Amino acid sequence: MCGIVGAVAQRDVVGVLTEGLRRLEYRGYDSCGVAVLQHGAPRRVRSVERVANLADQVQEASLSGTIGVAHTRWATHGAPVTDNAHPIFSRDEIALVHNGIIENHEPLRDELKALGYVFESDTDTEVIAHLIHHTREQDPSRDLLTAVQRALQRLRGAYAIAVFAKNEPDRVIGARAGSPLVIGVGERGNYLASDAMALSGTAEHFIFLEEGDIAVLSCDGVHIVDRDGATVRREVQAQHTSHYAAELGPYRHYMQKEIFEQPDVVADATERVRSITPALFGPNAQRAFSEIDSLLLLACGTSYYSALTAKYWLESIAGIPTQVEIASEYRYRESVVNPCAMVVVVSQSGETADTLAALKHAQELGHHHTLAICNVPHSSMMRLTELQYLTGAGPEIGVASTKAFTTQLVALFLLALTLGKERGHVSADDEARALRQLHHLPAALNSVLALEPQIVSWAEALARKDHALFLGRGVHYPIALEGALKLKEISYVHAEAYPAGELKHGPLAIVTNEMPVITIAPNDALLEKLKSNIQEVRARGGQLYVLADAGTKIESRDGVRVIQLPEHYGPLSPILHVVPLQLLAYHTACARGTDVDKPRNLAKSVTVE
Ligand code: F6R
Repeated sequence: MCGIVGAVAQRDVVGVLTEGLRRLEYRGYDSCGVAVLQHGAPRRVRSVERVANLADQVQEASLSGTIGVAHTRWATHGAPVTDNAHPIFSRDEIALVHNGIIENHEPLRDELKALGYVFESDTDTEVIAHLIHHTREQDPSRDLLTAVQRALQRLRGAYAIAVFAKNEPDRVIGARAGSPLVIGVGERGNYLASDAMALSGTAEHFIFLEEGDIAVLSCDGVHIVDRDGATVRREVQAQHTSHYAAELGPYRHYMQKEIFEQPDVVADATERVRSITPALFGPNAQRAFSEIDSLLLLACGTSYYSALTAKYWLESIAGIPTQVEIASEYRYRESVVNPCAMVVVVSQSGETADTLAALKHAQELGHHHTLAICNVPHSSMMRLTELQYLTGAGPEIGVASTKAFTTQLVALFLLALTLGKERGHVSADDEARALRQLHHLPAALNSVLALEPQIVSWAEALARKDHALFLGRGVHYPIALEGALKLKEISYVHAEAYPAGELKHGPLAIVTNEMPVITIAPNDALLEKLKSNIQEVRARGGQLYVLADAGTKIESRDGVRVIQLPEHYGPLSPILHVVPLQLLAYHTACARGTDVDKPRNLAKSVTVE
């Protein structure tokens, strides 16, 4: 989704701005732009091409300046054309970039038009720029901070902005309300961005703004006021450096790199766990866990599927009633509130608008026990919840989530063990066995990754198809859902997933000899049932692609292709079975020549509704 970078320094900031945009590219965008104050006036370059092209254009235009703002835009209001790209100007005096959506932009637009403002874009952003300009004109002091404060009071919606004005050449102002914004504190300048990663290499210390904060950045320092206009001090935090650098290295795509990082990130997540204790979820977890009688897991997309997998674990291992709901549904429906249910939000980014809103909604309804399972340390969800678990997968750049998913599963499995132990369902032997399995997971993942050549041959066949059906049973049903999501997201092959027991209730009608049916067939208690489902598919000519494991005893034959995972992994089997499905989606997408890391119409972090 949209990305913001801003800078004020004792040197030319154009390089910092374009490099920041480059680091934000992974989030998805359809246009980009940079503006600086040059020779006393805002100048900008905007493009509907990639950031690299923008950087060339910036050079050709000899753009330079010591204050500036930059943006990658993911279109919401107005088509992805240059006129709608940010920075947006107001009367060549105000330059502004914006993430989020202004809900009351229409009446404001009418009001500003009546005041003589001419709109040059279809964006809601232009309303903010003109509103700040107009408010500033009304104020004899012409103070940008005062104008921003007053203008923002009139906005409804969620946003983060960065803005500078022609007559205040020493400052950039940033504000957040619903969209993240972080300040990078440097020695010879100060910076801001919607994601700390944009500033890595530029700043070493960060201030994470709170909701409603407005920050004035100059070379001399950062001055922050809260939503009431009172000066506030926010903690300056040293940079969280992840050793999973956001560089591509020898891989063709970030998604491939991230799939192959899974043994390492899972090792990081499991090696430090020597015993199962509530402290894994923070210092207050013991008390909170003792006060709950059930769980409500809220998430979107891939994170929803990890939550769905966890339901099987939480109910079977911990014996705790667990509900899982898509965040965008939960936030708008009337639900029956059980204040003793702990709300668990699962999110890679910690900023997904629907999940965040669902969390706030749950809190308003009276859920005071909340836990975030999240991959971004200072994200909104991590800051709004009572308990936190950092999945520690490192930056995930590919839009399609992979390593974030497997580390979420590890976290949720640990949650099931912890609650199980607290509730007397997990014995010392159970705990020791589970820890042994967790510690062996990285090695098991490596042996699954070694199956890649076999998966490539499946992908070559799948790349020629328009549809695919995924089947799983029990705890592997959500893994089938995740496999189908991965495939459609990046290869654009239409894919659906069903619990295999549902076949006869409808989906069997679409099975013909043209239909690839990818079936997850671990050697678990449901295997015999699944084998009958496989027969049903084969009898209709369906082309079976079976992911078996040790002891499954399904052989390859005409119309049935089998890849056998080396081990059966008991309850943790979903963490192994998802990996071939990630690779299958990846190689199918490569064979179809799609933009794997930036699939069409999708963004990495969905910060708008
Ligand atoms: C799929 C994918 C999305 C995200 C979803 C939630 O590969 O990446 O479905 O899982 O947008 O995002 P987070 O986990 O950041 O809340």
